[in-house]
Amino acid sequence: MEIVTLDPHGMCSGVRSAIAKAMSHGGAYCLHQLVHNEIVLGELLALGSVFVDDIEKVPDGATVIFPAHGVTPEVRGRAAAKRLSVVDGTCPFVARAHRAARRFSDAGLPVVVLGDPSHTEVQGILGEIADRRAPRPGEKIGVVSQTTMNADEVAAEVARLREKFDVAGVAGICTATKERQDAVREFDGDAILVLGSRNSANTRRLCEVARCPAYIASNMDDVVKLREEMERYGKVGVTSGASTPERFFESAVGCLRRIPQHVAIIMDGNGRWAQSRGRPRGFGHAAGAGTLMRALGWLGDRGIRYVTVYAFSTENWKRPESEVSGLMGLFSTMLKSKASELVGNQVRLRVAGRRGDLPRPLRDAIADVERRTASFERQLIVCLNYGGRAEIVDAANAAIARGEPVTEETFRRLLYVPDVPDPDLVIRTGGERRTSNFLLWESAYAEYHFTDTLWPDFSERDLDEALGDYSSRDRRKGGLS
Ligand code: IPE
Ligand code: IPE
Ligand code: MG
Repeated sequence: MEIVTLDPHGMCSGVRSAIAKAMSHGGAYCLHQLVHNEIVLGELLALGSVFVDDIEKVPDGATVIFPAHGVTPEVRGRAAAKRLSVVDGTCPFVARAHRAARRFSDAGLPVVVLGDPSHTEVQGILGEIADRRAPRPGEKIGVVSQTTMNADEVAAEVARLREKFDVAGVAGICTATKERQDAVREFDGDAILVLGSRNSANTRRLCEVARCPAYIASNMDDVVKLREEMERYGKVGVTSGASTPERFFESAVGCLRRIPQHVAIIMDGNGRWAQSRGRPRGFGHAAGAGTLMRALGWLGDRGIRYVTVYAFSTENWKRPESEVSGLMGLFSTMLKSKASELVGNQVRLRVAGRRGDLPRPLRDAIADVERRTASFERQLIVCLNYGGRAEIVDAANAAIARGEPVTEETFRRLLYVPDVPDPDLVIRTGGERRTSNFLLWESAYAEYHFTDTLWPDFSERDLDEALGDYSSRDRRKGGLS
């Protein structure tokens, strides 16, 4: 399967600016959906933004964000009466369609509005028209379409209107939407995957204009489910709607190109790295922590959504007390000093392991960072006081407490991070070729990559080597390929 990314695709400038405004007023009231994209709305919810469907639900004097699809003049009037502080996310192309409708209406022309009458954009445009009478045959009319409509359909409809009326002017279609549709129309491959939410009008239009079978995916789960079907085609185009984040686009393309979704790393070799430099082992652990932060950036750039790292095993307590307490201190320091970096990069931290045995300050620091990052999609799972056997035993005890027989699926849900998909690739640095009690259940069908590089030396190149190794594997998972 050849993957072709269509250009242009994704966020238009109007949506980008609406999102930037809403994000910088995180926690404010949003009237309607800012844009029709579930990922963007999820991010705003995480910032504490409150979505309302009626301006009257916004408390007097509060800040309200108008959606990219615009609002009616009546709503603007009500916002002013309630002394709301308005952050206007209306897309400039939608605002232009509003002005056109008002101009036609002010000139006394009947206005024909093309679009979905239930869409907030169309309702906003209709609100500009003073007299909504039906035109008489031969009468001069103005035509305004919903900005995201299929440009061909609008042209065909305008041609039909010209047969009956004197069309004085046509407005509405936005160039960004048209360019994205043109790229889809011109694509000569075998199938198209359109990324965006199902309630996004422009996303649905992209499917309609395709000259080959078109599929829609609104999140990574959809993409994973569709991947096998896509692989039946020779050449697959990928595009995205005007409110789809580029991050999702990159992850989806990575998934189709068989970049692993979940990479797990046994970060080994810190002690030897330090000792070879004549330094204490703790020096190697600190260097390893720096490598982890860099590696997270490289993994993120490659669209890898889940990263699990082995930081401290249930067997590592056997090490000298000084090394163990040094490690516990390093974990606490890292959590405190890197929390804002995780928040800035939108990475969710989760800790897997028997945390009850960890020192209290460390447990508190973990809980704090987990809470602050809970809403993010990309995840870093740190295995701390983790053992694969301990995890299975803990899950078995949970199953016994419930008193019900388990299946593989129900047992999987009792493991430490039940909703995280199994790792696709496990990398072990430091030259050893064993699993050392890491993810015993979850790695049943993982691919393994071993490298002699000691973890503090692990580079972007080493990562690409591991990913290249992975993509060359034939993952039959018991079947025949
Ligand atoms: C892995 O590095 C990190 C932890 C176990 C905490 P090591 O400390 O095992 O380093 P080596 O294997 O002794 O070099
Ligand atoms: C595995 O490395 C554990 C971590 C990386 C945290 P170890 O160095 O502890 O494992 P063994 O002793 O080589 O098996
Ligand atoms: Mg080791």
